[in-house]
Amino acid sequence: MIFPIIAYGDSVLRKVGEEITKDYPNLTQLIADMFDTMERSKGVGLAAPQINKAIRLFIIDSQKMYDEGDKETGLREVFINPTIIEETGKIWAYEEGCLSIPGIREDVYRHEKIKLEYYDQNFKKHTKEFSGMTARVIQHEYDHIEGKLFVDHLKPLRRSLLKGKLEKISKGIVSVDYKMKFPK
Ligand code: CO
Repeated sequence: MIFPIIAYGDSVLRKVGEEITKDYPNLTQLIADMFDTMERSKGVGLAAPQINKAIRLFIIDSQKMYDEGDKETGLREVFINPTIIEETGKIWAYEEGCLSIPGIREDVYRHEKIKLEYYDQNFKKHTKEFSGMTARVIQHEYDHIEGKLFVDHLKPLRRSLLKGKLEKISKGIVSVDYKMKFPK
């Protein structure tokens, strides 16, 4: 099943997600549906609040952000109840976008490396370090389950310049080739 993507302006995107247990209803199917939804919209990550569920679950597939011959290959993974333990390395900028905020891409500064504690889809616990693009995608999706969006990282002036565009997105005045749910 493909979920509609919740658009900017919906309050679910501002909620801090709740932790889930392995008994969460239809978790396996939910994760499969999230991958289908992410692939249909050509995303590299999708967080549960973006499909109207304020829980601490997100998926990523950073493989397409790497080229053949690159040192790293990217990662397709499920993250449940994650905690960022540390963020290290240099701070670098990259032009990010978000399925909930179509048509806007802006430079966001983030740390190069993160250490994360999380559970996978089988509720096996991991403590791992990630770097580069994969770390960036994880940081972006992690923000979602904390009720944060990439535009929150922008300087106030930059953000106020985007105000009109963001307002339009929340009203559905935007061209997008995947299904979305607009709050207004
Ligand atoms: Co996003």
